[in-house]
Amino acid sequence: MTTHWKPLIALAAIAWAAAPAHAESLTLASPDGKITVTVSDDGGQATYAVSYEGKQVIALSKLGMLFAEHHGFERGLAIAGSATASQDTNWEQPWGERRVVRDQHNELAVTFKPADGPDRQMTVRFRAFDTGVSFRYEVPEQAALQGDLNLTEELTQFGVGEQTTMWYTPSDEFNRYEYLTRTAPAGKVDDAHTPATFKNADGIYFSIHEAALVDYAAMSLDQLRPGNFESKLRGWSGGPKVKTRAGFTSPWRTIQVAPDAVGLINSDIILNLNEPNKLGDVSWVEPGKYVGIWWAMHIRDRSWGRDQIHGATTEETKRYIDFAAKHGFAGVLVEGWNIGWDGDWYNNGDLFDFTKAMPDYDIEELGRYALSKGVRIIGHHETSANITNYENQLGAAMDLMQKVGVRQVKTGYVADAGDAVRIDENGVRHYEWHDSQFMVRHHLKVVQEAAKRQISINAHEPVKDTGLRRTYPNWIAREGARGMEYNAWGTPPNPPEHEAMLAFTRMLSGPMDFTPGIFDLKPNERPPLRENMQRGDPSNRPETTLAKQLALYVVLYSPIQMAADLPENYEARPDAFQFIKDVETDWEESIALAGEIGDYVAIARQGRKSKEWFLGAVSDEEARDLSLPLSFLEKGKKYRAQIYRDGPDADWKTNPYAMVIEEKVVTGGDLFAVRMAPGGGFAVRFIPVG
Ligand code: NOJ
Repeated sequence: MTTHWKPLIALAAIAWAAAPAHAESLTLASPDGKITVTVSDDGGQATYAVSYEGKQVIALSKLGMLFAEHHGFERGLAIAGSATASQDTNWEQPWGERRVVRDQHNELAVTFKPADGPDRQMTVRFRAFDTGVSFRYEVPEQAALQGDLNLTEELTQFGVGEQTTMWYTPSDEFNRYEYLTRTAPAGKVDDAHTPATFKNADGIYFSIHEAALVDYAAMSLDQLRPGNFESKLRGWSGGPKVKTRAGFTSPWRTIQVAPDAVGLINSDIILNLNEPNKLGDVSWVEPGKYVGIWWAMHIRDRSWGRDQIHGATTEETKRYIDFAAKHGFAGVLVEGWNIGWDGDWYNNGDLFDFTKAMPDYDIEELGRYALSKGVRIIGHHETSANITNYENQLGAAMDLMQKVGVRQVKTGYVADAGDAVRIDENGVRHYEWHDSQFMVRHHLKVVQEAAKRQISINAHEPVKDTGLRRTYPNWIAREGARGMEYNAWGTPPNPPEHEAMLAFTRMLSGPMDFTPGIFDLKPNERPPLRENMQRGDPSNRPETTLAKQLALYVVLYSPIQMAADLPENYEARPDAFQFIKDVETDWEESIALAGEIGDYVAIARQGRKSKEWFLGAVSDEEARDLSLPLSFLEKGKKYRAQIYRDGPDADWKTNPYAMVIEEKVVTGGDLFAVRMAPGGGFAVRFIPVG
């Protein structure tokens, strides 16, 4: 790494708000020279711009921040120094989409000071990778910024262009991140969560997100002028956006850039910008597949609460454990096991007790029984976003999980956005946002408490992922988008394009516990199980073919993958179930091969254990013929390809179960041609045969 500080620029004595006499402009290029960032103090403002092969990606855009108690960094600024560095290293993930990750980037740290104001400074550190750029604010401890520093505004802008196509979910509505992906010219979008994905008139794809969100508020995008977004930080109730002190760094603001859509998926920027593993030996973090007492609740066969159809009984849990053991699943998720589910659990977060099991759930016996079968129970902590209630019990709750052999806990924060409960030290109730600094702190606290007990966390209704799994590898997955459950009761259910959207949007942030693998594709059309049973609306159903359900195990990355359907539905289709049993969840390598946002995507992954390759592809509502080079396979080797594809007349609407299962011998020199049905897809396992 080389570092070089420029001498301070001599500054003319000019009025505080005026521009420095000579604007300065600095440039940083990616290692391959294709991406360029220009940083300047033109007009007394800190600005940056990004281009790809000379074409504009982000127009000249402002940087800065404002504080409640002190002057911020906004106007009258001048570049006071800069330093460059570069790095090219490899590091290993304990689990992930690939084992070895290359971190190759060039860096430029630019220090801004008021041209003639009080002596304050902030540094904006830029990194340019071949797949995008990033920057963060660093405000060092300094005499001028003593005491509390409450951020009222971060002024980062992203000039993406009014006509640039944008794929996004809205950020200011009640359902957190759980919206269908919308497509619109950027100039027409009011607000958006990140990752937000774009394609501009030059055909350049890019995605705006953030990395390493620690002790800060999450950023969303707020439209200022058409085509120009400003970072919007989610504030505390009645308070600032971020409570901090000088000596802080912001999360990285990331702009992934690629000439094609799959280039966005094949980027490791987010992980590279996070700190290395802080937990040491994490061999106890176990990727793998699981089943659970879960879908039965969503399709109304069972309930979370205590009534005649309570799902989490000792007997029913044993049935799932036996099923898991028989078919090689590592875990059994059990929801509704603890006190607090009776009644209106959505609004009664203060009633949840995380150390008391329901009377019909023998927690100790089930822990023992599971272990005797080589399976582990997966714990569940639904908090209904009463954070204080959960934090008050956190240590004891995790102790209990550890005592009964649990290695993984699914947490849940069901509540409207902005309704997470914080009771302050005076007993006063406040409501916070799911993506506020308060919740960012909370999630990390849970992950750290869990790590002390060798437990991994899979958070639902979480704050979005920003790559912290690198630093805390026990943060194994999260939800943070519309998952499978919407196909049981969502209005509308997820449309056929949903997963081909997720792959290029939500999935750029990290693993998702989507819970694929539904085999009974019309769950709400079954006859009632009991008298007076009201099934859900039959128009709620997974809008997919059976083959596509298998493809999701490869397409939507998560180190933990659920086989979400009921055991009896798998036992009815052992042929298709075989793929779920065979597919791995931890990868040596992953390559997104082809795709367009919201249309289709094909991804190949090599298993870490078996070294077998798996290929998955999904389509939207259109039928598509794909022809993919198998060049990811090892040269000179033959492979038995076990193919699960849509049958000739398959269609998610009219004929979802039509599937062809066949075997072929292939090599890396072959082109692999497959037709996907409307709402369809395919899954392939490649077994090396010499
Ligand atoms: C919402 C979660 O996404 C779902 O998986 C869970 O079953 C319910 N909350 C209950 O905790």
